[in-house]
Parts: sequence; C-alpha cells; structure tokens
Amino acid sequence: MGFVNQNIKPFNTNINDKGNIEISGCDLVELAEKYSTPLYVMDRVTLEKMANDYKQAFLDYKNIRMMYASKALMTSAIASIFYKLGFGFDVVSLGEMYILKNVGVDFSYVTFNGNNKGKDELEYAVINDIARISVDNFYELELLDNIAKKMNKVQKILLRITPGIECHTHEYIQTGQLDSKFGFDMHNIDEVINLIQNNYKNLDLKGLHAHIGSQIFETQVFEDEIEVLLKEIRRIKDKFNIELNEINIGGGLGVKYVESDLPPDVYKIADIIISSIKKYCVLYELSEPILYIEPGRSLVATAGFTLYTIGSSKNIEGIRKYISVDGGMADNPRPSMYCAEYFGEIVNKKDGYKPEKVTVAGKFCESGDVLIKDIELNSPKAGDIFCMYGTGAYCYSMSSNYNGVLKPAMVLINNGKSDIIVKRQTLQQLVENDVVL
Ligand SMILES: Cc1ncc(COP(=O)(O)O)c(C=O)c1O
Repeated sequence: MGFVNQNIKPFNTNINDKGNIEISGCDLVELAEKYSTPLYVMDRVTLEKMANDYKQAFLDYKNIRMMYASKALMTSAIASIFYKLGFGFDVVSLGEMYILKNVGVDFSYVTFNGNNKGKDELEYAVINDIARISVDNFYELELLDNIAKKMNKVQKILLRITPGIECHTHEYIQTGQLDSKFGFDMHNIDEVINLIQNNYKNLDLKGLHAHIGSQIFETQVFEDEIEVLLKEIRRIKDKFNIELNEINIGGGLGVKYVESDLPPDVYKIADIIISSIKKYCVLYELSEPILYIEPGRSLVATAGFTLYTIGSSKNIEGIRKYISVDGGMADNPRPSMYCAEYFGEIVNKKDGYKPEKVTVAGKFCESGDVLIKDIELNSPKAGDIFCMYGTGAYCYSMSSNYNGVLKPAMVLINNGKSDIIVKRQTLQQLVENDVVL
C-alpha cells in the first residue's frame, strides 16, 4: 500500500462478498443505511498509521514538537485521538481552544496562530498558559503585551514571518510568498525586536515561525524555508546578541487526491527537514533548535471519505451528463472554492463494470456546486451510494449551513466497528439562535 498520503483511499479498502466496497471491515452500503447520507467517515487505522509514521520519521530529532494543525479537522474525538498519540495542537481560534479545553488537553501542548487574533482569544490563551503564541503583526504585539501585563504573566512567543518562498500550490493556499496577509515582512524584524527588548517586557521571544503553504509536493521549498529561518536567527544573534532557539516550519505536506498527484512520503520530508537543519546549523554556527511542525491535511485527509446518495441526473446530449448527490459545496467547499480535485466511486454493485462518464454535482443552488468534473463511474443510478475519497481534511471544518441544509454526521470506523463522533445537525439546532419577530 505504500505510505498513507501517497494513497487515494484509506488502508484496507476492499470489495466484500456482497460486491460492496468495505473499508476497515465496514461495508459502506451498510454504513450509509445505518447512519444515512451524506456521511463523513474517518478510518482510525489509516489516521493512526499516518500519525505514527510522522512520529517515526522524526524520531531522530530529539527536540521535535508535533502540533496537529486543528484547522484541518477538529472535533472532540479527533482531538482526543491525537492527544493520546502524543501530538500537541496548533490552533487558530477561541473555538478550537475551547474544544481542546473541553477534552482536557494541557495547554503546554498548544500553540496559537492567526493574522487577526481577537482580544478575547489572546486572553483565553494567556490565562490558560498556552505554550507559544505566534505573533503575526505589530497590532498583536502591543495587544498581547498589554494582556500579559494585566495578568502579570510573561508570554512566550514566536514571530511569524513571511519568508518570501513561493511553492507550486493553489494561490489560495500559498502563504509564504511576500504578497501574503500572514506574518511580518523580514525587513520589519529589527523594529519588532527593538520593541520587545525596550517596550514589551511581558513578551519572551523564543524563535521564528513560517508556513509556506499547503498541499505541497516539492521538497526543496522546505530546505529553502529552513535556510531563511536559520540565517535570520544568525543575523539576529549578531545584531542583538540574543539567541533564538526555536523554529516552527508550519505544515504543508501534500496528499494524493487523484492519480496525477505525487506527494513525497513523510520519511522523505523528515529527512530533508532534519538534514537541512543540521546543514544550516553548521553553516551559521548555531545549536540545533527546538523544531515545531504543524501538519494538518496529511494527517487526516486520506483517512476520511464522504458517502452520498445519488438522486437526479441530467443528460445534455453531446455535452455532459450530470448526476446529483445529496450533499455538495456545504459539506465540501474545496472544489468550488479552489477547483480542488477528488476521486470517487459507486460503492455498491462492484461486479459488472459499465463505465459512464459523468459530472458529479451537489444539491446546492450554485452552478459552481460541482464535486467532480468528468469522472467514469459504474453506470450510476438513483439510489446508488457514491464515495468521495480524501475528504478528511478541510471539509467538515469548512462546512456550512448554506441553503439551510443540515451538517452531516461523522462516524469513526475501526476494524469492523463504527461509532458516531459528530451527530447529524437537527432542524431544531438550525433555528436555535434565531430570534423570531
Ligand atoms: C500556520 C499554519 N500551520 C499549519 C497549517 C497546516 O497546513 P497543512 O494542512 O497543509 O499541513 C496551516 C494551514 O494552512 C497553517 O496556516
């Protein structure tokens, strides 16, 4: 099977005696019948395999801090699983922190990112003794120092910088290039350090942070990023006589959504990261820093899939045939938002393959609500169950109630067992915050 992020489907995906697809011993038709569709499903075996591969791949780097990027998929059960596996968490909001608090995560395993953190969010982080806050801009620097001062605390921080590295991924998920809303420009760093040394006595600067983008297949960009960070740490040491001993290189490792996607495996990435740190520490005469990494997508995408039921279809002679499913852009906005590609298949009647080229559309009132354009499916009919692979990351976490459609449930499967980990939203919940006039 190779490495998790180099597969489109979860581990242990087979066709069973009934001719249905089963994953980790669970028949997908039966899952759809039991929990109804649309349904998010996470396979615990695949998720834990990837998490353990990350741990194994970085085993030789003693000062590693693995922070799961919660934004990819955050629910209480997912948080507990990663916590038990020894992961910390990168959060970007009060809500994500609240979920972690709720499941008993110690905040010395949590870091906080974001380009416009609110006062209430920073207060919550500081009061809970969060491990690090990645300060993103001058406004936040002053705000955080004031908050820490009022609480009589000294908050440990990193500086998020824009390293000027462009990687070949979709422009909306590139973050390291100069024209980005995230982080300090490199030419502002001296001013920031002067402010911290002279004015902001309640901030303790520990290191630098960068994140260059998501769904990255190149490896050289990680070496480039590490060079930029360590070179800057050397320059800061020479100019200010302070030794920063931490780097956070963000996340970004890509996954295979469709056949043409060829991401490197996590061992290769770890090798490049560790050898680049060693190389540039020798070159710039620095001791090896504490290394934070924040993978999100690569830890959860492949473990997840979504089950839909096929409903109506429309054949436009000579142009295309649309088949529509009972979900779409509200449970997975990625295809309509940045043309993300996915693979899927009909999970019942695997025998007798009669391929038909179709476009899988969602049920939402937007022409752009198309999940997969031009895919060959086995004679799709109303009532068939369609499985879309790779939906573990940035689907549930980006979902909405567009068109008043309820958010789907999420089920965790594990060697023949299935358990609800997020209940399907109810109509009552849809209106519970509404005020009737
Ligand atoms: C600061 C930061 N760290 C980590 C991540 C996770 O990236 P990925 O899901 O590509 O691993 C992101 C995603 O955008 C991010 O902005």
